[in-house]
Amino acid sequence: MDKPLKFAYSKTPYRYVSYFKDGKWSKGELTTNDTITLSESACVLQYAQTCFEGLKAYKTKEGKIVCFRPDLNAERMISSCERMKMPPIDKEEFIKACMKVIKANENYIPEFGSGGSLYLRPFMIGTTPVLGVKPSLEFEFRIFASPVGAYFSTPVKPLNLRICDLDRAAPNGTGGIKAGLNYAMSLYAIVDAHEKGFDENVYLDSASRTYIEETGGANILFVTKDNKLVTPSSPSILPSITRRSIVQIARDYLHMEVEERRIHVDELENFVECGLCGTAAVISPVKTIYNQGKTISFEVNENGFGNVLEKLRHLLMDIQQENIEGPSGWVFEIK
Ligand code: PLP
Ligand code: COI
Repeated sequence: MDKPLKFAYSKTPYRYVSYFKDGKWSKGELTTNDTITLSESACVLQYAQTCFEGLKAYKTKEGKIVCFRPDLNAERMISSCERMKMPPIDKEEFIKACMKVIKANENYIPEFGSGGSLYLRPFMIGTTPVLGVKPSLEFEFRIFASPVGAYFSTPVKPLNLRICDLDRAAPNGTGGIKAGLNYAMSLYAIVDAHEKGFDENVYLDSASRTYIEETGGANILFVTKDNKLVTPSSPSILPSITRRSIVQIARDYLHMEVEERRIHVDELENFVECGLCGTAAVISPVKTIYNQGKTISFEVNENGFGNVLEKLRHLLMDIQQENIEGPSGWVFEIK
């Protein structure tokens, strides 16, 4: 049997590129050139003026090529651009560009049932040389594609997390957008977490360090004893498309009560299940969270999941795969 794909970059033949100059975007086109030539003083290199998105294209049982709610990626990219003083890409153009990249790299979409998908990484960089701190005048927008497997291990192994002593996002900072700088902030902490045997960091709100925010690359979900889904609400966490979809599925399909609210770190012990959610993570189960000398454990069944989160994961995937009907417009066909 083939080895399962990892969540790692592998080059595919075509990517999309468009340039912003003299106040307007060029007509975007596909290219086989996977390199970017920049001034050593480009704004992205000196002052990290960049933001990105992540979405997956995959095949359904019927052989259709689809992706999940790309309109929300387009909208989030617009809000990231606005916060980063970058010129947004029109929503329809963003979706069309994604479609072009998917079609051009169609042969690299993993087969239905393989567990893999074609991950798209749209991103924008400021290319103008700067020395004083100011935004770029010129920009490059690109979308590349890479076949990927699960973000965390295959087969599923429930994760061991820790509450991180370092902070990721300031209260009025950039945690709510997908800026590269948020991930730069997390690099020291993720290496340290891995060295200490943890799979990921859970960040607290940096103002009071008492409320649960999210992890370095996913939002966090909890289930209570009485079957409520609880997930943090905070302006400094990324508005995960997966989390917003799961909340709707929990309410409308499982008739669960859902609370989106601040979650005090002391509440962790009250929850019976925990999971991480995101495009890359889907729903990944969590077994333990370590906090200040204490390990809090969550229920996991023989498949490695809490029962409720496993049900939600199946429902989400069934909707994504069109095994069951989801809300209108969620599954977007690439033709
Ligand atoms: N939080 C962070 C920090 C992320 O990087 C991601 C990944 O995109 C998510 C949450 C999940 O968001 P989404 O479900 O839109 O992929
Ligand atoms: C995604 O889930 O698409 C992300 O961008 C998360 C990233 C850490 C890989």
